[in-house]
Amino acid sequence: MCDPLSIDVVTIFPEILNGFLGESMLKKAARMGAVRYGVVNLRDFTKDTHRTTDDRPYGGGPGMIMKPEPLFDAVKSVQQPGSRVLLMTPQGRRFEQTIAAELAAEQHLVFVCGNYEGVDERVREFLVTDELSIGDYVLTNGVLAAAVIIDAVVRLLPGVLGCAASVVDESFVSGRIEYPQYTRPVEYNGARVPEVLLSGDHEAIARWRKEQSEKRTRERRPDLLDRK
Ligand code: ADE
Repeated sequence: MCDPLSIDVVTIFPEILNGFLGESMLKKAARMGAVRYGVVNLRDFTKDTHRTTDDRPYGGGPGMIMKPEPLFDAVKSVQQPGSRVLLMTPQGRRFEQTIAAELAAEQHLVFVCGNYEGVDERVREFLVTDELSIGDYVLTNGVLAAAVIIDAVVRLLPGVLGCAASVVDESFVSGRIEYPQYTRPVEYNGARVPEVLLSGDHEAIARWRKEQSEKRTRERRPDLLDRK
């Protein structure tokens, strides 16, 4: 088997991450050796008695800025040659499925979670390799963004999902929204499963699914149709 993907997360909220990484598929992925997680408590890299990780901005203004020294020291404690160091920020490149696939092929990811008011600019300039946003809204802290991205990446690692086809066939991978899915019972509250899905005719089913995918994409996400 190939080396597991290594993921380290630098945060002042290690407990949020530990809870999240200790459940369900993410836990299973670590157990089976597809991934290794490390959660780095940023406060362990502070030097004052109050374990301060942020400070007021030079030039004045509201909010607090993450200090550079603990962030540099925390990242350096885990960084290796070739590590991708990812800053979670609403100013970053918008995260999407293609980036998840790109990150799943890396060897080491270091997530840097700051508070929304920002980080010292020298962290952007000299420490991180990428800045990622999970959408055009502002969270109180990047730790939830890191959790979202880790989830999307880890499920792509070989063997993590039971069935490899489920990764290929799903929304966004094919540039289309997924077709409607049904399971038992055949009739629920007067609504029946479409007959074609019960027909056993695999060609007809594939055709129906393709049409439904196209229709849904046109109705809900026409922007996807313009992409290559
Ligand atoms: N931190 C605060 N808001 C964020 C967002 N939308 N994406 C990534 N990190 C964030």
